[in-house]
Amino acid sequence: MGNVLTIRGGVPLNGKVSVRGAKNLVPKAMVASLLGNTPSVLRNVPEIKDVEVVTSLLRLHGVEVTKDPVTGDLTMDPSAAKMAQSKDIDAHAGDSRIPILFCGPLMHSIGEAFIPDLGGCKIGDRPIDYHLQVLRNFGAVVDKRPGGISISAPKGLHGAKLSLPYPSVGATEQVLLTAIRAEGITELSGAAVEPEIMDLIAVLQKMGAIITVQTDRVIRIEGVRELTGYNHKAISDRNETASWASAALVTQGDIYVEGARQLDLTAFLNTYRKVGGAFDVDDDGIRFYHPGGPLKPLVLETDVHPGFMTDWQQPLVVALTQASGVSIVHETVYENRFGFTEALIRMGANIQVHRECLGSVPCRFGQRNFLHSAVISGPTQLRGADIDIPDLRGGFSHLIAALAAEGTSRVTGIELINRGYERFQDKLEGLGADFDITEEAPVFAAGLL
Ligand code: EPZ
Repeated sequence: MGNVLTIRGGVPLNGKVSVRGAKNLVPKAMVASLLGNTPSVLRNVPEIKDVEVVTSLLRLHGVEVTKDPVTGDLTMDPSAAKMAQSKDIDAHAGDSRIPILFCGPLMHSIGEAFIPDLGGCKIGDRPIDYHLQVLRNFGAVVDKRPGGISISAPKGLHGAKLSLPYPSVGATEQVLLTAIRAEGITELSGAAVEPEIMDLIAVLQKMGAIITVQTDRVIRIEGVRELTGYNHKAISDRNETASWASAALVTQGDIYVEGARQLDLTAFLNTYRKVGGAFDVDDDGIRFYHPGGPLKPLVLETDVHPGFMTDWQQPLVVALTQASGVSIVHETVYENRFGFTEALIRMGANIQVHRECLGSVPCRFGQRNFLHSAVISGPTQLRGADIDIPDLRGGFSHLIAALAAEGTSRVTGIELINRGYERFQDKLEGLGADFDITEEAPVFAAGLL
């Protein structure tokens, strides 16, 4: 059983939060430490579940991980790296998708890897076909086993000319983490170039890698024999920043996000301004606030970087339920990322989801029976409801809706939010939210209430 968050809505969130290292960079930088022949230090590390999962997976593989009790900085020493038992890997992986990125580093450091079947947010099928294809191109032998995949490199790994059918973040990371110590040159076309990818490239370059990001999504990697450890401060989490910004808008509040980087949020900030939000940028962060007046509807299409991030749409959809008019959101990255709207509709939102591509360009999911476009009519008064959190970003969107709703909401499954939002309950308290946390009663847990 987990905890129940009882939220009394209608209170504007005002104050300051600090956002630290990006959930979608830090675990990858931790895995990269396996490739170095000396210890690595990673700074600005958030206290989130995904970091705990990777810490235990690294320790399982013989990497010594120590955490500074004051700063939270991690020191990782891979000198005793070894193969782990597949059942143990499975037990530690949780619903994280990170184990798939251990392939390249483990094959380089110990010659083999076992990857358990992956979890992750239920926002689509989450296939790993691109990952397995690039690993085979590097010369790896990939065998599907019960419960996971066994991967080995009996003849070592060699550079390859690769092209991704879609600029997948994970598959791009797979290539980077495998190519940098493979024999020869790798050229990747159709690569992802998100800020988290660029920060991972910065980490790898510090280790001794030779990586060139060319124009039109082509990345060239020249394999090197040896890499050292790194010392790196992780970029801040732009997805958490966007979530707090949306919370300020929906609750008609004013939140200063310390650590927010304008450079990583250009598309979000433009959209935030178009919806009627206001923001002030300074050297240490960004202030997000509702300047008064009605919020404006808009037509939005998610895309890969530098477009509007798919991870930003769910919190923003809650703001669109408060806009005066009809908004349209076309989700082109994941086929099933509007499941969270069911709870918003129960709270009074007027949202319809459609199979059609309601955007400027037909995407991969058009006419394939995926409800990947949403039409939102507002403003509607949100009322408190019982909510069970479906996934990380959808879950935070439910919190935002409950904080703005009239009346009380009881939210379960909040442990999911700890995967990617550091100390979110402390932050909510600091912003003046009115809520209690109680142990989930058995009868409630059984859904009998
Ligand atoms: C990363 O997921 C992020 N997660 C996601 O953030 C983010 O939404 C996503 O990139 C897109 O930016 C982490 O970094 C841990 P993808 P990833 O591979 O790497 C398809 C959050 O809330 N695909 O770029 O798994 C896939 O199905 C999370 O923080 C294949 O078809 O995403 C999807 O439609 C959610 N085959 C598209 O590519 C593959 O082998 C993009 O996925 C791999 C991906």
